[in-house]
Amino acid sequence: MEERVKKIVDNFDIEGVVVSAEPYGNGHINDTRVVKSDVLGKERLYILQKINKNVFKKPWELMENYVGVTEFIRKKVAAAGGDTEREVLNVIKAKDGKDYYLDSDGEYWRMLVFVTDNLSYDRVESPEQFYICAVAFGNFQYMLRDYPAETLHETIPNFHNTPDRFRQLMEAVNNDACGRLGEVGEEIEFAKAREEFAGTFERAFAEGKLPLRVTHNDTKLNNILFDAKTGKALCVVDLDTIMPGYAMNDFGDSIRFGATTAAEDEADLTKVNFDINLFELYAKGFIEGAKGGLTEAEIDLLPESAIMMTFECGMRFLADYLNGDTYFKIHRPKQNLDRARNQFKLVSDMEKALPEMHKIIDKYKEIANA
Ligand SMILES: Nc1ncnc2c1ncn2[C@@H]1O[C@H](COP(=O)(O)OP(=O)(O)O)[C@@H](O)[C@H]1O
Ligand SMILES: [Mg+2]
Repeated sequence: MEERVKKIVDNFDIEGVVVSAEPYGNGHINDTRVVKSDVLGKERLYILQKINKNVFKKPWELMENYVGVTEFIRKKVAAAGGDTEREVLNVIKAKDGKDYYLDSDGEYWRMLVFVTDNLSYDRVESPEQFYICAVAFGNFQYMLRDYPAETLHETIPNFHNTPDRFRQLMEAVNNDACGRLGEVGEEIEFAKAREEFAGTFERAFAEGKLPLRVTHNDTKLNNILFDAKTGKALCVVDLDTIMPGYAMNDFGDSIRFGATTAAEDEADLTKVNFDINLFELYAKGFIEGAKGGLTEAEIDLLPESAIMMTFECGMRFLADYLNGDTYFKIHRPKQNLDRARNQFKLVSDMEKALPEMHKIIDKYKEIANA
């Protein structure tokens, strides 16, 4: 083990004698390692992660969120007689009592108990897996339904503030930093026609119609660990982006990337279609998983959330294209423009399907209330 890593590991309060700390998993944001420790001949595993400071500017606030939420879930798992080492993440404290270790290079590290006998999948390969994701993230809302979300830090400020994303797009239009505005007239009109819609959730919240919730904000399949023995979803991981927000946003973002027939940067828009069957499957799972933990207003806005998250994402790609591709990495010219057009095509599809989406939601709402 490198001396540098050993020093970091030694600063955490873990059991036994550390044997190794190898790179682990397929995460893209944090630098993740599995730490093996020998406790009187028995192997004990931990996860060591370097927090990505480029993305998360205040790692100490992030860790406050992390510990607040995991301790809250742990109490619920314990009360239900569950396995508190596998059904929830456990943060190991540093020897100085903090929830992270700050090394001499200014990097922030955290240590977690390794969830044993887990399986993790990188890509959704069947509708069934998409449904399982929905149940897991619906259940995440259920477990945190009474968490004081207003006490959480916004680890990425204004992350899902759609009116602010609109404002940023208009700023990019005004700057036209790369002289690309001439190409995107149609897309800009598309966005402007939806300015009023962009404020739907913020207005409902201001009128007291929506509660503030703990949102996960990265509801990918590989952020769920499955039980290798039962195959069931065990634990939600990757809590860096937990923030105060609207429950619908986790749902809407999953629909955005999961209920489409093409990749996010597919340039042939005839291939890009909204898949209402996948929407239905996810809606069913999410509402079931939330077990009555969502309000009627939240459930009723699930279809709009799919449009909102897709529209917002399209605006971000478009703004980045105008700004000269400074945020989203590109591998070919105009990739961000293709991404924006792709998302806006989905928005159009979803708008047409809105009445049908509402019918679907009403159906599962009734089943859930029965
Ligand atoms: N406590 C844990 N126990 C076992 N595996 C874990 C644990 N935490 C994370 N992992 C694995 O490491 C991968 C990367 O971790 P994650 O927190 O998702 O980082 P990233 O933000 O880089 O995606 C996860 O997809 C999961 O497979
Ligand atoms: Mg991850």
